[in-house]
Amino acid sequence: MEASTANIEEIVKQVLANMAGGGTAVSPAGSGGQSSEIPKTARVAMLTGLEHYEIKEFPLPEVGDDDILVKVEGCGICGTDAHEFKRDPFGLIPVVLGHEGTGEIVKMGRNVKKDSAGRDLKLGDKVVTCMIFKDDPEITMFDLNKQNVGGADVYGLLPDDDVHFNGWFADYILIRGGSTVFNVSDLDLYSRILIEPCAVLIHAVERAKSTGILRFNSRVAVQGCGPIGLICIAILRTMGINNIVAVDGEQKRLDFARELGASQAVNFKEYKGIEALTEAVKESLGGHLADFAFQCTGSPAAHSNIYKFVRNGGGLCELGFFINGGDAAINPHFDICSKEITVVGSWVYTLRDYATTFDFLKSAKKIGLPIDKLITDTFPLDQINEGHRTNLAMTGLKIAIINE
Ligand SMILES: NC(=O)c1ccc[n+]([C@@H]2O[C@H](COP(=O)([O-])OP(=O)(O)OC[C@H]3O[C@@H](n4cnc5c(N)ncnc54)[C@H](O)[C@@H]3O)[C@@H](O)[C@H]2O)c1
Ligand SMILES: [Zn+2]
Repeated sequence: MEASTANIEEIVKQVLANMAGGGTAVSPAGSGGQSSEIPKTARVAMLTGLEHYEIKEFPLPEVGDDDILVKVEGCGICGTDAHEFKRDPFGLIPVVLGHEGTGEIVKMGRNVKKDSAGRDLKLGDKVVTCMIFKDDPEITMFDLNKQNVGGADVYGLLPDDDVHFNGWFADYILIRGGSTVFNVSDLDLYSRILIEPCAVLIHAVERAKSTGILRFNSRVAVQGCGPIGLICIAILRTMGINNIVAVDGEQKRLDFARELGASQAVNFKEYKGIEALTEAVKESLGGHLADFAFQCTGSPAAHSNIYKFVRNGGGLCELGFFINGGDAAINPHFDICSKEITVVGSWVYTLRDYATTFDFLKSAKKIGLPIDKLITDTFPLDQINEGHRTNLAMTGLKIAIINE
């Protein structure tokens, strides 16, 4: 079959345009290109001072051969964002925050073909990012187990530069070559926003399993029913663990803990002293102390308490201290030595945990756990200051920015 000269010219033009990453046609998987009209400029929410975001408009950056331009759909507000908003402990201001984000690929460089788990990537796919590898030869895209994100860069916690589109609190984000990115097109928007916090708990449960104590029929205590403890409960329930007692002081949160899979709930404010509280936990577990306990608060007093809930020979996972919350007193004889309990710590996650998280979210929905209800309040990008203030007020659970 012969094509006319005019046709060939047209085809060549199209191919060249796509190679330059500037074409307008939808391209097949992994061949670069652009899916739809992309504006010349777009907005970011930049934290420019304490408790103060400004909406700024910048030209959208060039998309290099290894880069991906993503149109942001939404992003959760994390405790880390709250710390930055209030005190800037990481010294990042001015910064475009937001690391619990997700969106749609609208343009990609010609070298981009697969995500970090080996799945095809194409225009229109929904993605999330995890860590950014710099020049660490110890980590490769295919070694998902290597280490947790401590020490790696993460979008949404990068200092501002001349790209500006570095965080998910924005209309667009530029994902540069060398980043980890996952195709999560088979998850709905709320599930995708919850991936990052859920990965924290997948990691904690994997750490707990490494003790050999957490089993199918274990009795488990989860202390703290903020988003972290609640997701912990949902994961345990999804794994088939039925005997879970939730401990918190907020009745609303305890009620939701039951919806997410806790079989019992203990309100610590109803008990005077650790002996009475321990007795209540024991009673809720059918007269037994817990085989395993998860500490999901940032309170040193809560850390001291949780040892009492664990049986001799049991296990404990401490994950509540993402940042330094001070020292906690324990009695080495009663709490660890004579009890022979196994304690593990858990901090952030590995890439492998991300992949497991995708499966968890699908399984949790399949058994009817109302995971989406963790997102209690949503705000558009231009109301991000209000969104953060709502987060600080602690009236809801997970607050998210959702782009229109
Ligand atoms: N390990 C990690 O990688 C990691 C990641 C993210 C967050 N975190 C940590 O997890 C903790 C929980 O996060 P969150 O977002 O759920 O916080 P949150 O503040 O929303 O929830 C904490 C809950 O603990 C309850 N609580 C406080 N004192 C208690 C006590 N003595 N006994 C029982 N319950 C008590 C509170 O009522 C609240 O519901 C934070 O301290 C955070 O730093 C750790
Ligand atoms: Zn986070």
